[in-house]
Amino acid sequence: MFILGIETSCDETAAGVVRDGTETVSNVIRSQVNVHRAYGGVVPELAGRHHVVDILPVVESALEPVGANKLSAVAVTVGPGLNGPLLIGLSFAKAFSFANDLSLYGVNHLAAHIAALHLLDEPPEPPFVVLLVTGGHTALYHVKDWGEYRRLGRTLDDACGEAFDKVARLLGLPYPGGPSVESAAAGGDPAAFPFPRPMTGKGFDFSFAGLKTAVALKVKEYGDKPLPTADFAASFQEAVAETAASKARDALEATKCKSLAVVGGVAANKRLREVISETNPTADVFFPPPELCGDNGAMVAAAGFISVEHDRPLPPGADAVPSLEL
Ligand code: KG4
Ligand code: ZN
Repeated sequence: MFILGIETSCDETAAGVVRDGTETVSNVIRSQVNVHRAYGGVVPELAGRHHVVDILPVVESALEPVGANKLSAVAVTVGPGLNGPLLIGLSFAKAFSFANDLSLYGVNHLAAHIAALHLLDEPPEPPFVVLLVTGGHTALYHVKDWGEYRRLGRTLDDACGEAFDKVARLLGLPYPGGPSVESAAAGGDPAAFPFPRPMTGKGFDFSFAGLKTAVALKVKEYGDKPLPTADFAASFQEAVAETAASKARDALEATKCKSLAVVGGVAANKRLREVISETNPTADVFFPPPELCGDNGAMVAAAGFISVEHDRPLPPGADAVPSLEL
């Protein structure tokens, strides 16, 4: 069974085809980073305009290996995300599925990040714990089965990726912040600044706003003096990685799960991966490859497969839901 997945919730126009929920046939991602870089963050109106231009060529290119006539269903992200961008993907998917006489499935973007794990050569077997770290969300889930997610905790303020993006700006590093902080950290000392490890040992909720403020206050102390950017980046990255790793370890203990997976854009961070693996030496730890960490269409198709199995098609009049929860 071939499913087409369409993703336009933020600043990537993406489409992918997945076979039987497990095999990536195509995964085409058109990023808008060059559009938004000048503004230091995603401008929703511009994101929408570019999705309109890019959606058709991206879907056409995703369909090159199989063709629309081979598809069994279409899946599209309905939320959470930016309303205008979501509506463009949803409207396109409604028209495309109607024209090709295919069922349409609405997918939660966070569930899609988790479903990216379904595409690994050896996916984790439920039950497992998943740490989801994106630009807009940060949470820990207990995955009892594919499609059955119990949230253990989430961020009370900034998301993990958002903290990377804001700290990048404080350090004068280019957008998008996560990859710039990671590159800058390469030559830095992670012990140079003892930034806080927020809320560790205190349940499963996260808080990154205070950590960001701690970095801002330290930057301010330098005044006109040159910033040791690499040390700042490495110390901040270490604080995030240790915080995430410690919360993940507590979640494994509480749920008695043996497997841990990390998904979302920030899961591409190599130091985060290392610290999480080192802190959880007895767990089986799963990370998607970088192209399945950030936003993409294949993960939406994989989540669509789970919806097909549960027979949950999208009602024809369904709308986008920008603040959809998981
Ligand atoms: O999952 P994603 O592509 O989009 C959302 O659903 O938000 O995540 C994007 C976030 C951004 O905040 C970006 O800075 C962060 O992931 N990110 C990283 C890295 N690559 C992307 N953060 C840290 N290290 C990275 N290598
Ligand atoms: Zn995402």
